[in-house]
Amino acid sequence: MTFPVTRLRRLRQTEVIRNLIRETTLTRNDLMMPLFVCPGKGVENPISSMPGNAQLSVDKLVEKGKELFDKGVQTVLLFGIPEQKDETGEVACQHNGIVQQAVQALKKEVPNLFLVADICNCEYTTHGHCGTIVNGDVHNDFTLETLAKQSVSLAEAGVDMVAPSDMMDGRVQAIRAALDEKGFYNLPIMAYSAKYASAFYGPFREAAESAPQFGDRKTYQMDPANGDEALREVELDIEEGADIVMVKPALNYMDIIFRVKNTFNMPVAAYNVSGEFAMVKAAAAKGWIDEKRIVHELLTGLKRAGADIIISYHTQEIIQDL
Ligand code: PBG
Repeated sequence: MTFPVTRLRRLRQTEVIRNLIRETTLTRNDLMMPLFVCPGKGVENPISSMPGNAQLSVDKLVEKGKELFDKGVQTVLLFGIPEQKDETGEVACQHNGIVQQAVQALKKEVPNLFLVADICNCEYTTHGHCGTIVNGDVHNDFTLETLAKQSVSLAEAGVDMVAPSDMMDGRVQAIRAALDEKGFYNLPIMAYSAKYASAFYGPFREAAESAPQFGDRKTYQMDPANGDEALREVELDIEEGADIVMVKPALNYMDIIFRVKNTFNMPVAAYNVSGEFAMVKAAAAKGWIDEKRIVHELLTGLKRAGADIIISYHTQEIIQDL
């Protein structure tokens, strides 16, 4: 009878020894919480497919911001639902726009909460597409103008970082140039670089009232089947001046997160999107999974894959355990 010399079980015997050799640890510093701001006062509209999340009017958002900050959340990603939509998303570029108001109020009341604004047209256009429509499709270069304008307007409102999620070609360069011209050369850009045309955004589109009214997003968001193309998208965004690159969704795209991190050595964000959140919540509500353990395992996996930043709707519920 021969015995194994190498026994990997030796280092698994106790909690202490497992803690000593753990390679990846999820911390409070890694997490970003998305929030939705809507018009009105005292409004808190629960989003049915995203339990625990709601559209909040500015006053309620400020309350939420304080509560999150006290719990240990250091950064939030803001999405707006405007009173009125228009054809080109111009409504997102106004100095009294819904996210601009939210940024000003949060900066006043919770000054140390780091504010990131999503930059995109889809929540602001009547047709729900991420840009200006010409001949039935989103016109890339016209859209760059509104994206740049929206970014400058949010920078003027006091946001700490902008995050373009539209997938137009050249948007990072356009936004960088517009910000620099206005003196915001120190404002970082976190680009949704490899953003897939995914079915996992379903609940978000209910939350942001941004489902496209015709067609789909396949002419601008990426085909879920492609990996090399994701690296090209990331490379271009880096060349254009992105400070942080993002992969979205997260769980089905861990190979992309891994490749991006290993290829570019850049700060990488992973967006654990609404559909991923909803699946966990639904199974947990049925009592079929242990939610706490599952969430911890999922988010730790994203970090192990190479994500430095994890954007997740679970943030508010797990932050205190970290
Ligand atoms: C805006 C945007 C979307 C998400 C983030 N920014 C929706 C989309 O592209 O349709 C999705 C986030 C989520 O599902 O949690 N373009």
